[in-house]
Amino acid sequence: MLSEEHLKELEKASQIIAQSRHLVALVGAGMSAESGIPTYRGAGGLWTRIGEPDPRSFQNFAADPKAWWQRMLDRESHPEPPERAQFREAIDKAHPNPGHYALVELEGTGILRYIITQNVDNLHRVAGSINVAEIHGNRTLLRCMRCHWRVPREEFEVVEMPPRCPQCGGVIKGDGVMFGEPIPPDVLNVCFREADLCDCMIVLGTSGTVYPAAGFPVQAHRHGAYLIEINTEPTPITEIVDVSLRGPTGDLLPLLVTRVLELLADR
Ligand code: APR
Repeated sequence: MLSEEHLKELEKASQIIAQSRHLVALVGAGMSAESGIPTYRGAGGLWTRIGEPDPRSFQNFAADPKAWWQRMLDRESHPEPPERAQFREAIDKAHPNPGHYALVELEGTGILRYIITQNVDNLHRVAGSINVAEIHGNRTLLRCMRCHWRVPREEFEVVEMPPRCPQCGGVIKGDGVMFGEPIPPDVLNVCFREADLCDCMIVLGTSGTVYPAAGFPVQAHRHGAYLIEINTEPTPITEIVDVSLRGPTGDLLPLLVTRVLELLADR
């Protein structure tokens, strides 16, 4: 049962979103927590349990992509930490939750124009969202390091080591952005454009600690956009947002979208 204060904040957020002409959602791992995927930081987070990956992960890959692919394709001989295997199994089994579907509904009203997600789990696309910028990549895809050509993993046959791009001959890697890897410019340009164009940004389940994604709410705020945050904990941007809703996205987003639809119907 939501408190009086909660209901007041929910109403304020609904009113702001119902008036928005260009809403952008910035999404983090908290959005997929209710789909059974552990977050990275905080209690039970993957990095909390095994430590953050080597900041030179990308440089190590680029120095010897063949070795990376051999380890990736031959898990038998190159077992990964059990926590990583559990994380992978959790993503493999995951389905969109009511929070993902609420964003699909909001996109259908024409108010939500883009989702910038830090999640690699593909759940927004599975749920039916169309305009999705996957700033940290998508684990179901492979990507050319040179021309950024992308292909679903299951449509690509590894015929040489390291695998090469059929378009430009560049080295192929997982689309997931490694620690130390520059964000592919095609995705990054969309994110900066949307952070500039939005009149409201809703920030969902992110600790707001990893840049450039963590900078988008500040960029939006700087040009006068409203900020709404849904998180189970306070974050570095909580003190600058217009509305802070404390709780799980899987519960609060559907309530928010239901109220927005009511406001739109009353017009
Ligand atoms: N609903 C809303 N928020 C939640 C929920 C939930 N059900 N569960 C957890 N949270 C919040 C936590 O309070 C935290 O603020 O989600 C956030 C998760 O933070 P992180 O684990 O740091 O995830 P994220 O912000 O997405 O990390 C950014 O770091 O290592 C990289 O590539 C990784 O994309 C990831 C990036």
